[in-house]
Amino acid sequence: MTTARRPRLAILLSGSGSNLQALIDAINNGMIGADIAVVISNKPEALGLKRADNAGIKNTVIDNLQFPNRENFDKALCREIQAYKPDLVILAGFMRILTSKFVEYFNGRILNIHPSLLPKYPGLHSHQKAIDAGDLSAGATVHFVTSTLDGGASIIQAEVPIYQNDTPEVLAARVLIKEHEIYPLAVQWFCAGRLSLADGKAYLDSVALPKNGLTFTGTITEK
Ligand code: GRF
Repeated sequence: MTTARRPRLAILLSGSGSNLQALIDAINNGMIGADIAVVISNKPEALGLKRADNAGIKNTVIDNLQFPNRENFDKALCREIQAYKPDLVILAGFMRILTSKFVEYFNGRILNIHPSLLPKYPGLHSHQKAIDAGDLSAGATVHFVTSTLDGGASIIQAEVPIYQNDTPEVLAARVLIKEHEIYPLAVQWFCAGRLSLADGKAYLDSVALPKNGLTFTGTITEK
């Protein structure tokens, strides 16, 4: 009898790596059946690299400042990722816009988490934007990556309240707690072969997901 190979993940980050940590924890507790093949940061000082080290995960830096332009950086990044033959590329606080060539190469195999209830507030400063707009809630969205910034098909969203006097930092911390729940869930779905992208739409168990993705209630039952 042959055992199926465990999916391999490549995780890209630029900063703290708390989402990486949530994924490491979910692998260690058996929720996600996959292995992290490599963690790549574009910033040498990213705390996420230390988290990878602590977990015994291979990690490397490809510093975008060492490249003359986006195309060259993306080429080097793509080459490095390919060397690990990942089944899924996970953007976990990776603060670089990727070229369409890169995104198309990994089409249907790249996920991102964005700290807003997409399609609201793509790009930077989403918490500030939600507060400035007087929104009563904010949240995070896991989505497939396409060449439109934060515009690929949504998979799952989690919502949190915005309270009076919230600062962007306070709100970000509240949203992050939810990020750490929904990202492992979506990654697990992908690794179990349940999640896919076709014709620009996200499918879970062959059923097209709603435009904004599923709404996380904390009680999504697992098979
Ligand atoms: C998260 O808020 C994520 O949604 C955004 O960048 C932040 C990364 O946080 N894309 P961390 O590095 O995972 O702690």
